[in-house]
Amino acid sequence: MGAPMRIVCVAGARPNYMKIKPVMDALERRGAEVVLVHTGQHYDESMNDVFFRDLGIRPPDRFLGVGSGSHAEQTGRVMAAFEPLLDEVAPDAVVVVGDINSTLACALVTAKAGPLLAHVEAGLRSRDWSMPEEVNRVATDRVSDYLLASSPDAADNLRAEGYREDQIHLVGNVMIDTLFSNLERARQSDVLERYGLSKGEYGLVTLHRPANVDDPEVLTALLKALGEVAGRCPLLLPVHPRAAGRLAELGVPGGIRLVPPAGYLDFIALQDSARVVLTDSGGVQEETTALGVPCVTLRDNTERPITVEQGTNVLAGRDPERIVSTVNRVLDNPPAPRRPALWDGRASDRIAEVLLGGGSADSRLRPTDLLVPSPAGEGEAETVLS
Ligand code: UD1
Ligand code: UDP
Repeated sequence: MGAPMRIVCVAGARPNYMKIKPVMDALERRGAEVVLVHTGQHYDESMNDVFFRDLGIRPPDRFLGVGSGSHAEQTGRVMAAFEPLLDEVAPDAVVVVGDINSTLACALVTAKAGPLLAHVEAGLRSRDWSMPEEVNRVATDRVSDYLLASSPDAADNLRAEGYREDQIHLVGNVMIDTLFSNLERARQSDVLERYGLSKGEYGLVTLHRPANVDDPEVLTALLKALGEVAGRCPLLLPVHPRAAGRLAELGVPGGIRLVPPAGYLDFIALQDSARVVLTDSGGVQEETTALGVPCVTLRDNTERPITVEQGTNVLAGRDPERIVSTVNRVLDNPPAPRRPALWDGRASDRIAEVLLGGGSADSRLRPTDLLVPSPAGEGEAETVLS
């Protein structure tokens, strides 16, 4: 028997931890040697440590400690720290998850260094270039060998962009693996008592997208809408550090309670018992669908349309009147619970099967050119982007 495959798994910020944990477990169960690299993009106890405890993730094998900064600073710092690490560890493959700056940084370094690169959550597209995450998604997919898609629409996006069929694997949603394996424990949480909440009688809010929280005018308009909703259904808002300063400056209308960011088990418990969830988070749109809890997304678009088409998510945009009328409609007439195929708790097993299936850097799948269909009305010709 040859040496076990050595696989670097990268995590950097809150939404990465629940994605990487089941992948690490599935790889290790099959005998792979996993090296967990933490970039340090998120570092507060409430944005980081609590997730390692709640999810039982072992301490990172390597810690890059990059911290906060502008996009270029943060991405550059991760790249500079990850490059020598990769050289030293010499893995067969690197797994990156999601769409944060750490994802892109480690993807770019891996693409030049040689190991195979796998992207978990490939193919999600908001088609909104003003989102930093959209740049990270598109660029990460472009240099990946394995494109691991969580939903058929994501796989279709990749096909439409010209990726090879043998690169694209529809594996399901790893967030839901973690959700299902922790749901019973989350239901033991006493967080509702601590906040004096009753099941089914409150709304849960999260806000952290730059487009929603960085501009005081936009945030003021959102708070006005939330204030109206709170007149009908009290709201709990665990505050993301990105929004903390601005929320403190602006103040919030009555009926909205600001609390620190919640740990994973507490936050799942809060979602599970909410009457409605109002959010701009990607992961929360998915978890509410899997839990069958109504979700109103405070964005103009979503890279997760399956949660609208086959789940409990409704896009409300950012106009206050539209938000209030959408929430009222959802409260009067909640969407029926339903769950997309392959959001079944087994996505990480499928990922491990793909990654341990015998690929090597000599049989690299990453295309050297992409075939993209020509725009409508320009005949049958295809354009080759090189
Ligand atoms: C990042 C991701 C975003 C993801 C979000 C999840 C990018 C471009 N953005 O956004 O896709 O949805 O994480 O939560 O990668 N801060 C703290 N403590 C921390 C971390 C951050 O105080 O532990 C503050 C700092 O002031 C920092 C700001 O939050 O400047 C933003 O952090 P950053 O990681 O750059 O982006 P997020 O908005 O958290
Ligand atoms: N989450 C949490 N506590 C909170 C808010 C979110 O544990 O106070 C969890 C949530 O359940 C989901 C993940 O964090 O698993 C989503 O991360 P986030 O919203 O920060 O990022 P996004 O998914 O938008 O990239």
